Amino acid sequence: MAAPRTLKTPIFTALDTAEVSEATGLAAKLADSSGGLKLGLEFFCAHGPKGVKEVQSASDLPIFLDLKLHDIPNTVAGAMRSVAQLGVFMTTVHAIGGQGMMEAAVKAATDTAYEFPVQRPLVIAVTVLTSFDANDLKSVGVGAAVTDQVRRLAGIAQRAGVDGIVCSPLEVAMLRQDLGPTIKLITPGVRPTWSVANDQKRILTPSDALAAGADYLVIGRPITAAADPAAAAARIAQEIAPVSSEKRVQATA
Ligand code: C5P
Repeated sequence: MAAPRTLKTPIFTALDTAEVSEATGLAAKLADSSGGLKLGLEFFCAHGPKGVKEVQSASDLPIFLDLKLHDIPNTVAGAMRSVAQLGVFMTTVHAIGGQGMMEAAVKAATDTAYEFPVQRPLVIAVTVLTSFDANDLKSVGVGAAVTDQVRRLAGIAQRAGVDGIVCSPLEVAMLRQDLGPTIKLITPGVRPTWSVANDQKRILTPSDALAAGADYLVIGRPITAAADPAAAAARIAQEIAPVSSEKRVQATA
């Protein structure tokens, strides 16, 4: 079973917390205004599948479980079998794990979803972490420029059959051109004009990121740190509505 492709808004709110009560509280508040919720390693290492289920039952919103899996193909396939049983909307693997590892991840997700049956999670590849610059790449033996390495890894990920790529908003247009219209592009580093940038440096507004070709936006603090998180998410959803509905029309044309 493939995951449904339409959400009420393309915003995934990042719940960057290790506290179940904070995550479930935000999930309940955002049930009507966010498109989905992102849970990452901080939360998963503390609470595992049980914590994910608690968040799922607090809101019913699709979950982006951002685990950035990277190991030998057999181990990643095993991890993916467990992740797929959770019925999450999407999850991540590191493209640097290679084509064989990503193929194993996609196959495990597909087989598990068929067997249970649950919605198959979208398997999304992470290329070069945005905390890496050219010097960091060089220090681990990669002489390529960051952009070239992003493109190389994204191409390998696409050949492995992944459903999408996580990328910086400034890479969206380039990857959309390289990879074509069907692959999903997911971008953090998105900031509405009325919010503070925090520690994000390479940012676009939600509308600009969508117009450049992003499918889903990951937004954390502008929503979670707002006095009224539901109102902040609703405000962003309203701002992007013209661009999102235009994209929906194009997608179905
Ligand atoms: O609060 P903020 O909107 O900056 O949160 C963005 C989310 O996206 C966080 O969960 C962060 O870890 C994640 N992220 C990111 N940049 C990346 C990859 C993930 O900000 N390159």
